[in-house]
Amino acid sequence: MRPSALVAFLFSGFVLFVAVGPRTLGAEDGYELWLRYPLVGDAARLAEYREAITQVVAASDAPTMQAARDELVTGLGGLLGRDTPVAGAVSQDGALVVGTPANSRVVAALPLADALRQAGPEGFVLRAMAIGGRRAIVVAANRDVGVLYGAFDLLRLLQTESPLAGLDVVSAPRLRLRLLDHWDNLDGTVERGYAGASLWEWARLPDSINPRYRDYARANASVGINGVVLTNVNANALILTAAYLVKVAALARVFRPYGIKVYLTARFSAPIEIGGLSTADPLDSGVRGWWAAKVQEIYRVIPDFGGFLVKANSEGQPGPQDYHRTHADGANLLADALAPRGGVVMWRAFVYSSDVPSDRVMQASDEFVPLDGAFRRNVLIQVKNGPLDFQPREPFHPLFGAMPRTPLMMEVQITKEYLGQDTHLAFLAPMWEEVLRADTYARGPGSTVAKQIQGIAGVANVGTDRDWCGSVMNQANWYAFGRLAWDHTLLSAAIADEWIRMTFSNDPRVVRPVTAMLLASREAVVNYMTPQGLAHQMARGSHYGPGPWVTGGRADQTSIYFNRADSAGLGFDRTATGSNAVRQYALPARSRFASRDSVPENLLLWFHHVGWRERLRSGRTLWEALLRHYQAGVDTVRWMRRTWDALAIDALVDPERFHRVQALLRIQEAEARWWRDASVLYWQSFSHLPLPPDYEAPAHPLDWYRQLHCPPDPRKPRCPAIAGAP
Ligand code: GCU
Repeated sequence: MRPSALVAFLFSGFVLFVAVGPRTLGAEDGYELWLRYPLVGDAARLAEYREAITQVVAASDAPTMQAARDELVTGLGGLLGRDTPVAGAVSQDGALVVGTPANSRVVAALPLADALRQAGPEGFVLRAMAIGGRRAIVVAANRDVGVLYGAFDLLRLLQTESPLAGLDVVSAPRLRLRLLDHWDNLDGTVERGYAGASLWEWARLPDSINPRYRDYARANASVGINGVVLTNVNANALILTAAYLVKVAALARVFRPYGIKVYLTARFSAPIEIGGLSTADPLDSGVRGWWAAKVQEIYRVIPDFGGFLVKANSEGQPGPQDYHRTHADGANLLADALAPRGGVVMWRAFVYSSDVPSDRVMQASDEFVPLDGAFRRNVLIQVKNGPLDFQPREPFHPLFGAMPRTPLMMEVQITKEYLGQDTHLAFLAPMWEEVLRADTYARGPGSTVAKQIQGIAGVANVGTDRDWCGSVMNQANWYAFGRLAWDHTLLSAAIADEWIRMTFSNDPRVVRPVTAMLLASREAVVNYMTPQGLAHQMARGSHYGPGPWVTGGRADQTSIYFNRADSAGLGFDRTATGSNAVRQYALPARSRFASRDSVPENLLLWFHHVGWRERLRSGRTLWEALLRHYQAGVDTVRWMRRTWDALAIDALVDPERFHRVQALLRIQEAEARWWRDASVLYWQSFSHLPLPPDYEAPAHPLDWYRQLHCPPDPRKPRCPAIAGAP
C-alpha cells in the first residue's frame, strides 16, 4: 500500500473507532447494533479463526473496498483480539483475500468464474482454498459492493462462531431493490417514528457530517440494504429545491461507498409549490418540462440518484386524479423524466378515494388492476403487505400477482405503528415470512408473493435514540428486514438465531430462550390486540392502545367499520354476501378465504361475520375462542418476562441492555392486559355472554377503559394509569 493510502486507511479506521466508541463489557448502550465484534468466546473457535486469518490481502483503495477493509480490520481486531495486518499480496498461510477480478490480480487468477457468474452484480463468493500453496480464504465478487457484502457475511460467520473449514458460499440477493423508507420530515420529526428525531440534520448539512451517518450506512450494508428514501411519503416539496439537494448530495456521498443509493419522495404538486407553475397536471407540457429539468438538476449533484417514491391521491396528498388523470399518467410523467438516467418511480398503491368506500381494503386493487400494462418500464407499484395498513395480521394484498405486466414492490413497516411501537416486543420476521410465502395462485400453485415482486421497502424504525430503534429488541426487525430482503427463503428462526448471537451472546443459555421469545412475540401481539383476523382496533390517532369502540370522523378509519360487532356476532363479511372482497383473489385462494370450512382461523373475522355462539373448526364457539386468544397473548408476555428475567441469574446479558428490555417487557405485560380487558369487555357488551369463572377478571369496567385519556404526545403514547405493573 502507498504510504498516503496507509495513512488514509489508518485514519479511517480511527474515525470508525471514534464513531463507534470503545466497547467495554457491562456498558452496552445498543449503539453498535449487531456489529459489536467482541472477542470470540469459544476457545477452540478462536484458535481456529486465528489460524485461518492472519492477514488481509486487498489491492484496491477504491472507497467501497476501503469500507470493506476497514470493517474487516475493525471486526477481526475485536473478534480475534489482535491486529490483522493488511498486505498487498499473499505472503503467508491465513491470507484473507478480498477483491474483484478487476481490482485484484490474485482474485483474477483464481478459478472462480462459475461462482462469480452465479453471484451476479451484487453477490459474492466466500471460499476456503489454497493460493500459491498457502491456505487462504477468499471474499470475491464482480463488483466492489459485493466484496463489502461478502466481508460482512464472513464477519457474521465469525460473530456466530460458525466453522470456516470447507467454506464455500455463493450468495446473491433475490430482489433487486432493498430499501429503507424513512418517514422523516424536514423539521426533524418522524411520522410514526418512535426512536427519537430524524437522523438527518438538515440545518447542519452539507457542512457537518454526523459520524452516525456512516454507522447507519454500515448497518444497512451489513444486511444488504441498497437504497434509502430519505423523506416522508407525506412529502414536502422543499426537499427538491437546490438548497436541500446539496444536503441530500452530502448524505449520498457518505452512503455511496456502502452501496446505498438515495431516493426522495416527490410531492406531486411540487411544480406549483416550488416551480411557480399554475398546475401540476401530468399531461401539461410545462409540467413535463419542469420535472425533466428538475431531474436533470438532481442528477447533476447526485449522479447515482435512485429515483422517486410517490404517495398520490391518498390521505389528502395531491395527485394526478386532481386533474382527472390516472395513476399511470402521474407515474409515467416522473418515469419519463427519470428514464434517461436510469432512475425509477416507486408509485404507492396505498390509496384512499375521497368517498368512503363500502370496503376500504378493496380500493387499491380496484384502482390499479385496470391500469396493468399502462405504466412505463421504470415504474414499480409499491404495495403494502396487506390490503389495509400494516396490521398485526392481514391476508396478503390481492394486488400481488394481479398485475402481471407491471413490476411490483412490497412495502412493510419495520416501525411497528400498530404493534406496540417502540415498546412492545414483536419480532416481525415471522410476519414477513408469512406474507412472502403466501401463495397467490396467480400463475398456478407456487405463485408465492415473493415471486411477484422485484423489490421490498421497509418503513424504517431508526432515529436519534442512542440505540437507534427505541429498544435493542427493535433492532432485530431492522436486521431481519435486510436479511429477508436479501434472501426471502431464510427462516425467521435462523435470522433470530444469528441476530441474538451477534447482538447478545453465543451462549446457548441466551440463544435458546431469546430465540423462543422472538419467535413467539408477534403472535402474542396478534392475540392480545386483534386475534382471529380482527384489524384496526387501535385508539384513534396514536394507534397504540385499544380502541375497538372508535367511531366518528371518516368511517373507514374507525374501529367499528372494521369489526362490525353487533348482537349477532363479529367480523367483516367479505364474501359474496358482504363486500365480496374475496373476488380480488385468484382461485383457489378466493374460495379458500370465502368458505367458513377452509378460511384460516387466524383470518376468520377478516373475511366473515361470525355468530358469537357459532362453533369454529376447533370445536369452540367464537366467544370461547376469542377469550382464549386474548388470554394467550397476555400469558405469552408473562412467559417472555420470566424467560428474560432468568437471564439475570447468570448475568448473561450486560446490565444496561438487560434492564431496559426488562422494563419494556413489564410495560408490555400491563398493556397486554389493558388490551385484553378493554377488548373483551367491549365485545361482551354485544355478545352478552359471561366470562368463565376461572377467567382472569378485567381490572376495571368497560367505561373506565373508554374514558381513559392518554397523554397527547403522539410519539410516546403511554398511559400512566396502565403502566406500573408488578
Ligand atoms: C398509515 C399511517 C400514516 C401514513 C400512511 C401511509 O396510515 O398511519 O401515518 O402516512 O400509513 O402509509 O401513507
